[in-house]
Amino acid sequence: MKGVILAGGTGTRLHPLTRITNKHLLPIYDRPMVTYAIEALVGAGVKDVMLVTGGTHAGEFLRLLGNGHDYGLDRLFYAMQDKAGGIAEALGLAERFVARDRVVVMLADNVVEYSIDAAIRNFEQQPRGARILLSRVDEPDHLHHLGVPAIDASGRVTRIVEKPDDPPSQLAVTGIYLYDGDVWDVIPSLEPSGRGELEITDVNNWYVEQSTMEYEILDGFWGDAGESIDAYYAVNDFVRQNGANKSRPD
Ligand code: G1P
Repeated sequence: MKGVILAGGTGTRLHPLTRITNKHLLPIYDRPMVTYAIEALVGAGVKDVMLVTGGTHAGEFLRLLGNGHDYGLDRLFYAMQDKAGGIAEALGLAERFVARDRVVVMLADNVVEYSIDAAIRNFEQQPRGARILLSRVDEPDHLHHLGVPAIDASGRVTRIVEKPDDPPSQLAVTGIYLYDGDVWDVIPSLEPSGRGELEITDVNNWYVEQSTMEYEILDGFWGDAGESIDAYYAVNDFVRQNGANKSRPD
């Protein structure tokens, strides 16, 4: 299993902080945001990782992370995204790095309370397809800013709606995705969305249509620190008090 950490984008929702640095280098409690995604992958045994970033602050990732060994990685590769073309476009840059392996993709602004090890082990047992990690979100206003799955009576995902006006469930699609090699054929077939980006939700809906999309619902806290300044502080407050990437209690 290879890991891909997506740390690009313009971070407009956190302007003006992100005029002077990349969003994923802003602090979460006592260290830069991106290090939580690395810790999540390393804690799940994924130590061969590519970080995709871009923009004027890209060099700071090299300064922070170097070859990745201080963070427990065996190998850390870097890819540069020329323009902010969306999550799916950024993932496409990792095709040759992942090669014939499977991949776990993590958005570098996502922070989880508990280890994602079980999800990765479950995906290794899955014959093919994709797997997404969902989190329960009680506030409907929050769901308007996220991807939200519709789930039928048998428990299958029937579609994922990006930024829904009318959320079809109280579950959010987190920024942690697991894919088999079909993903490299799907990405080139995508059309830009209304926000001019190749959407990861379109990739996920391709797997939903193939009936090869599986999911799990995360225990504990999940936060997208890049969603808004309030979300950024909510993640900071949580991590400061409770930590992140912890072993699941028995
Ligand atoms: C992205 C995805 C969305 C997902 C979210 C999780 O949103 O498009 O489906 O729920 O990450 O962090 P974005 O941050 O690009 O608005």
